[in-house]
Amino acid sequence: MNYWILVIDDDPANLKMANNILSTEGMRVSCVKSGEAGVKFLQENIPDLILLDIHMPVMDGFETLAAIHKNAEASVVPVIFLTADDDSDTETRGLKAGATDFIKKPFNPEVLLLRIKHTIELRRLQADLASEVEQKTYELIAQNTKLEKISMQICMALSGAIDAKDKYTNGHSARVADYSRMIAARAGFSKEEQDNIYMIGLLHDVGKIGIPDAIINKPGKLDPDEMAVIMNHPIMGENILKLIEEFPLLVTGARYHHERYDGKGYPDGLSGENIPIEARIIAVADAYDAMTSRRSYRDVLPQEVVRGEVEKGRGAQFDPVFADIMLAMMDEDKDYHMREK
Ligand SMILES: [Fe+2]
Repeated sequence: MNYWILVIDDDPANLKMANNILSTEGMRVSCVKSGEAGVKFLQENIPDLILLDIHMPVMDGFETLAAIHKNAEASVVPVIFLTADDDSDTETRGLKAGATDFIKKPFNPEVLLLRIKHTIELRRLQADLASEVEQKTYELIAQNTKLEKISMQICMALSGAIDAKDKYTNGHSARVADYSRMIAARAGFSKEEQDNIYMIGLLHDVGKIGIPDAIINKPGKLDPDEMAVIMNHPIMGENILKLIEEFPLLVTGARYHHERYDGKGYPDGLSGENIPIEARIIAVADAYDAMTSRRSYRDVLPQEVVRGEVEKGRGAQFDPVFADIMLAMMDEDKDYHMREK
């Protein structure tokens, strides 16, 4: 057996006997005569198991065990107490102190070998299991991170497809996602909620994929029929995104982002807090980006005009809480960076 055993015992006869029994079985044996010598030995050597005598002068077995436990590397080595006592109190005290097992002196060679073998094998199994769990956990985290990345990239690709369809709203979805995340952060949403709202923002207009290019890109005014088609994009978005069952909030963003706080929006005419909070945030970000990006018939609106519109929409088109946050963001954006470049 290819084990390395440290024996700590003040009785030279015991050391000799243990050494004989264990080395006959092919084990490597190190013998020391005191607890102090054992602790010192363990500063530079880590054996597979320690046989520790309880009754020793100066530092007894319990004190030695406590000192061993202060050494992080040695503290994981299993310790078997050697005792001539036959009292259960000593055993209880030893087990409580962290001993793995007891062996009574004088040794029965077979019992000594079997206990050592079982203890070391058990400890190795535990260590293998722990490292297996650690490895699997690491792999799962890596896999999870990759999946999250793929989901995000698919959302980005899809939002790129929406924006590519509408030649006047280049980058609109990504900007709405950015502004929505900023509003959510200021409103005290958690990091996870902010990430969710970013994804919801990216895909809020996905229903536009189902609208004919001739209507989306029509330069002039839309007739009532064309307007009705455009106003159907929240429902189309819902139909597309409800296939992503793991993320039902995506549907919420698509369906309700054209609702108005005063109840005059579409498709359901919901008002106030009946409109899902994610959609109330996106509504502000969406309207803000519409005003701060170029159109076929106009350039980006001046910042003070946009500010006036957001203020006007406060409590009417927009939830006043999120309109106020948007106004604060604009006031801090002195050089008017938050717009289509
Ligand atoms: Fe929209």
